[in-house]
Amino acid sequence: MQTEVMKMLGLEAPIFAFSHCRDVVAAVSRAGGMGVLGTTHITAEQLEIELDWLDAHTDDKSYGVDLMFASNARDEYEGMTIDDVDKFIPQEHREFVDALMKKFDVPELPPGEREKIFDEYMTGMIRTHRTAEGRSEVLYKHPKVKVMASALGVPPQRVTDKCHEHGIKVIGMVGRPKHVRRHREAGMDIIVSAGHEAGGHVGEIAGFVLTPQVVEEAGSIPVLHAGGIARGKQIAAALALGAQGVWTGTIWLGTSEAETTPLVKEKIFAATSADTLRSKCGTGHPARRLRSAWVEAWEAEDAPKALPMPLQSILVNEALERMDRYQPRELVSYPAGQGVGMMHQQTDVRSVFLELLTELGETMENMSNICGALNEE
Ligand SMILES: Cc1cc2nc3c(=O)[nH]c(=O)nc-3n(C[C@H](O)[C@H](O)[C@H](O)COP(=O)(O)O)c2cc1C
Repeated sequence: MQTEVMKMLGLEAPIFAFSHCRDVVAAVSRAGGMGVLGTTHITAEQLEIELDWLDAHTDDKSYGVDLMFASNARDEYEGMTIDDVDKFIPQEHREFVDALMKKFDVPELPPGEREKIFDEYMTGMIRTHRTAEGRSEVLYKHPKVKVMASALGVPPQRVTDKCHEHGIKVIGMVGRPKHVRRHREAGMDIIVSAGHEAGGHVGEIAGFVLTPQVVEEAGSIPVLHAGGIARGKQIAAALALGAQGVWTGTIWLGTSEAETTPLVKEKIFAATSADTLRSKCGTGHPARRLRSAWVEAWEAEDAPKALPMPLQSILVNEALERMDRYQPRELVSYPAGQGVGMMHQQTDVRSVFLELLTELGETMENMSNICGALNEE
C-alpha cells in the first residue's frame, strides 16, 4: 500500500502519532509511521534536548514536531509575572477552583513550588506566536524533523517558508471545512481533519462527516483523518473517505511507553466512549477529555464560564499540577477521545501499531472480496 502522504514522507504505514512522550514518538517512527512530538509544555532549551534524544533513537527514520500557533494567541501576556497575570483573573473563578481543591482534599504544593511552576509555565506554555516561533528555530538544526504541525491556527508565513527551506512539510489542523481555505492559502502541505470524537482540542463536526468535505476543499493537498482511531478497520474507512492516512493521539496513551499515570491508564481502560466530553475547563478552548468530577464541576450550570485563552490555563495551572502530583481519584482527568471505548489493556507501541496494520490489511482484503463478489453477480 502507498498513499500520497506515505510517498511524500517515505513512510511504510499511513499512521501519524501525536504524543507528548518522546518514547512513543520514537517507537512509532521506528515502526514505519510518523511520530510527532507535542511540545506546547516545553521551552526551546528543553526541546533541543528532546530532539537530540529523538535523533539518537529513531534509527534511520524521521519524526515530526507539533508547535502551537494558535490564531487567538495574545502576545501581551508574554513575560508577565504571576502578580501581573493574577489581576486578569476574576475572584469568583479563583474561589471556584480553591473550593474544588478543598472539597476533594487535594494537598497544597510544597512552599516555593507555585512560583517555580508559574515561571516555567509562562515561558513554555503561553501560546504566543513569538514563543512558538522561538521553538521552531530548534527544528532547523535537526534534519530528521520532516514535519511541523500547528494546532489551532496556521503558522506565520515566514515560519512556513523557513520550514520549506529546510525540507520540513507543514501540517495544519481543521475542525470545519471552511477553515481549509485559510490553510490552503497559507501553503500547508498536509491538512488534518480533526473530528468531534478526537481527543484534545476539537470542533463540533463528526469525522465521518467532516473528512469527505475537507478532502473536497483541500484539492490536491493530502488530508489525514483524525478522531477516534483505535482499529485498523477505521483506517481503511478513513482512506475510503478520501484521506491519505490517519493522525492519532488517544490510542498511544494506553501504551507502556506513554507518560500517562497508572490512574489515568486505569480510567482510560475502564472508560466507554460516553466517558469523555468536550470542555473548556483546561485551556478556555473546547477540548475532549476524560469525564471526572473536575470536568463535570466546570460543566455544571452554576459554574463560572471558562476564561478565554490563555487565562483559563493560567487559572487552573496550579490546580492541574496538584492533581497531577497527588492524583485525587475522582478529580483526575486527561485529554482523550471517544476511542477510549476500544482500549482495554496496556500493551506497547509496536504491538498497537502492528495490530492496526494487520486489521487494516484484513479489512482491505475483505473489501476487495466484497467487490469481487459484486462483480461476479
Ligand atoms: C493527551 C492529548 C494531548 C493533546 N495535545 C495536543 C497538542 O498539544 N497539540 C495538538 O496539536 N494536538 C493535541 N492533541 C490532539 C491530537 O493532535 C490529535 O488531533 C487527536 O489526539 C486525534 O484524535 P484521537 O485522540 O481520537 O486519536 C492532543 C490529544 C491528546 C489525546
